[in-house]
Amino acid sequence: MAASVVLTGIKPTGTPHLGNYLGAIRPALDLAEQFEAYYFIANQHALNSVADPAQLRRHTLEVAATWLALGLDPHRVTLYRQSDVPETFELFAILANVTPKGLLNRAHAYKAAVARNREQGRDEDEDAGINMGLFAYPLLMAADILLLSADLVPVGRDQVQHLEITRAIARVFNGTYGEVLRVPEAHLSHAPSIVGLDGRKMSKSYQNTIPLLIAGPDELRKAVRRYRTDSAPAHAPKDPDASPLFEIFQEVAPAGDTAQVKGRLLSGEMTWGELKDSLVDVLDGLLAGPRAVYRSLLADPAEVDRILVAGGSRARARAEPLLAGVRAAVGLTLQP
Ligand code: TRP
Repeated sequence: MAASVVLTGIKPTGTPHLGNYLGAIRPALDLAEQFEAYYFIANQHALNSVADPAQLRRHTLEVAATWLALGLDPHRVTLYRQSDVPETFELFAILANVTPKGLLNRAHAYKAAVARNREQGRDEDEDAGINMGLFAYPLLMAADILLLSADLVPVGRDQVQHLEITRAIARVFNGTYGEVLRVPEAHLSHAPSIVGLDGRKMSKSYQNTIPLLIAGPDELRKAVRRYRTDSAPAHAPKDPDASPLFEIFQEVAPAGDTAQVKGRLLSGEMTWGELKDSLVDVLDGLLAGPRAVYRSLLADPAEVDRILVAGGSRARARAEPLLAGVRAAVGLTLQP
């Protein structure tokens, strides 16, 4: 049997932060060690929320440079840009004809937008302000996944419903036309969701993130020091497992250091300030190398572009036979 294919899309809507690295990038790079991996920048999906072309370009470059700097080897992992694989959009158009509209009516993001309109009393047009990009978002995602015949799709919890929609669309298609599309599985990572500076989930929309590759040690220190800690006496015993700082430390430090720090927190020997300093040291040690690579890639967008274009042709080579099979199955070609 051919090796399983793992595929995921990354929306270029912000500069990647530490939560993105620990929650998504690192687990995906680990999966790429075991499977044939296709990772792409979902720039067509981002068009739905980023209306500023300069910003879309910038975030595309930053996301690609971040993955490369953190160790993605573009010779082993196919890193590409969604818009460089136009087969996606033909498959999208074909799949639209087997996609029940009700399936998309029930998608979380669309339902939430409709609910907001209703709350605001816009009963005469509950679709006010909702465009087709938002409504068809899960269908485009299905096209991304099914086009590459992916087996495994690493996603966060917020994307699980989209995977269910993808599977439903694939089943309807196969039920009508025969087993042409591979029905993928979602792969939920075991990585913990990282807590941000204010105690909520680390997310760019809360502005509570620790920067990943854009910051030197001083900025890292400034961010980490902003974590709120309790006001118990400095040498009171501390519960490491209730501390987001320790959680991050555990994710990035060698196991021996983690055990030692845990003991010193429990006994009260270590202060929160000292934990913050140790965390900054470990983070800086981990990120200094990637940071240098990141800077040189940002200074050479043409090189990043070459890598993405080369990845795009590899993705197309895999996509073409699948799309040819789909066209034939539905009767778009004269020869079945
Ligand atoms: N919707 C995903 C997100 O917001 C990004 C995405 C687009 C994606 N296409 C995909 C993820 C295909 C996995 C597979 O994070």
